[in-house]
Amino acid sequence: MTQGFDTTAIHAGTAPDPATGARQVPIYQTTSYVFRDTDHAARLFGLQEVGYIYSRLTNPTVGALQNRVAALEGGAGAVCCSSGHAAQIMALFPLMAPGRNIVASTRLYGGTVTQFSHTIRRFGWSAKFVDFDDLDALAAAIDGDTRAVFCESISNPGGYVTDIPAVAGITDAAGIPLIVDNTLATPYLCKPLGMGATLVVHSLTKYMTGNGTVTGGAVVDSGAFDWSASGKFPSLSDPEPAYHGLKFHETFGPAAFTFHSIAIGLRDLGMTMNPQGAHYTLMGIETLGLRMARHVENAQTVADWLENDPRVTAVTYAGLASSPWNATAQRLYPKGAGALFTFSVKGGYDAAVKLVGALKLFSHVANLGDARSLVIHSASTTHRQLTEAQQRAAGAAPDLLRLSIGIEDPADLIADLDQALAAAVA
Ligand SMILES: Cc1ncc(COP(=O)(O)O)c(C=O)c1O
Repeated sequence: MTQGFDTTAIHAGTAPDPATGARQVPIYQTTSYVFRDTDHAARLFGLQEVGYIYSRLTNPTVGALQNRVAALEGGAGAVCCSSGHAAQIMALFPLMAPGRNIVASTRLYGGTVTQFSHTIRRFGWSAKFVDFDDLDALAAAIDGDTRAVFCESISNPGGYVTDIPAVAGITDAAGIPLIVDNTLATPYLCKPLGMGATLVVHSLTKYMTGNGTVTGGAVVDSGAFDWSASGKFPSLSDPEPAYHGLKFHETFGPAAFTFHSIAIGLRDLGMTMNPQGAHYTLMGIETLGLRMARHVENAQTVADWLENDPRVTAVTYAGLASSPWNATAQRLYPKGAGALFTFSVKGGYDAAVKLVGALKLFSHVANLGDARSLVIHSASTTHRQLTEAQQRAAGAAPDLLRLSIGIEDPADLIADLDQALAAAVA
């Protein structure tokens, strides 16, 4: 029987602790695990048996979280990482090689634009940025060296939504995996794997944990991509010298990407999530459905109020009828368009800066997806390293403020915005 979202969020990946019966997932705060004997140790190291060796690779608390995130996204497997940014590198690592490129959306978190524009070049990888609403431009940008296409389901900071099935149609035709960053939507609002994506990446730092306590990430694999068909993904299809010629895809089938990410990715890159963080995230996910429903309801209420205020000049929330993304949001994100968006005020940049200073309930921080409502000026912070053209393409123009709407009483959020607007806008 298929379980509902909230049941999966509470139960998937966990059972009472076999040693003690503990009902909540224990924090296995250990680096290593005693082998039964030398043969057991050798079999674990040779990937002939699955088990625990060393917590850089596997840990039972992190494993429980991996199973839960995979179940919520409808994936074959997941690997958790030390941050969302680590997850992005871990997702690309098995696919890429020097000289290969990715095609990425222009509408991304600024840190991701920077990671893809500059840092990945040091590995000999590169990125081409395209407006993903222009499907012809997307198809044209994919070339013989492209190994992945990357977008956010709901994008930071504008809250714009991506037509994932349309993008997946292009990547399917090209035989290239589609990676979707599902951080802002979470599997409660959107399940990209069910819409044709190959991999999902998460910053667990945001809504999945939900209270601003943990830095973490995850990569979820659909298990459906044929890594051997084209010869373009030798790390997964060809003999792996570090495991005596083992072929990951042939040996592990739908679990190939996840096994590779643990056995090679975590082993050699070491971007491991810690068990304490995994425990907090597991607890956060238990209330994901309840929180996301409230986040979305509050975001819609606040966006509606802002749009009707004469001191406000624009609101980008895709849940508003005025948004060019509203039809796509209603079709593909029926439970809501997330809880992050930008707005601008009369008086432009100067008034926006005053407004941030006048807010009392909203915290001025570089985070999103917290139970608390948050505000930031993206162009001078999260999207600061971008050129002004990149900022505008990403939806982070200099006069915009980004709001991450929390789960407080909406009347209090509106009252705070009202008094701050009064202080900032003449
Ligand atoms: C959409 C999105 N993806 C990825 C990241 C990076 O996640 P982390 O900060 O956990 O590395 C962020 C961070 O803000 C984000 O907003």
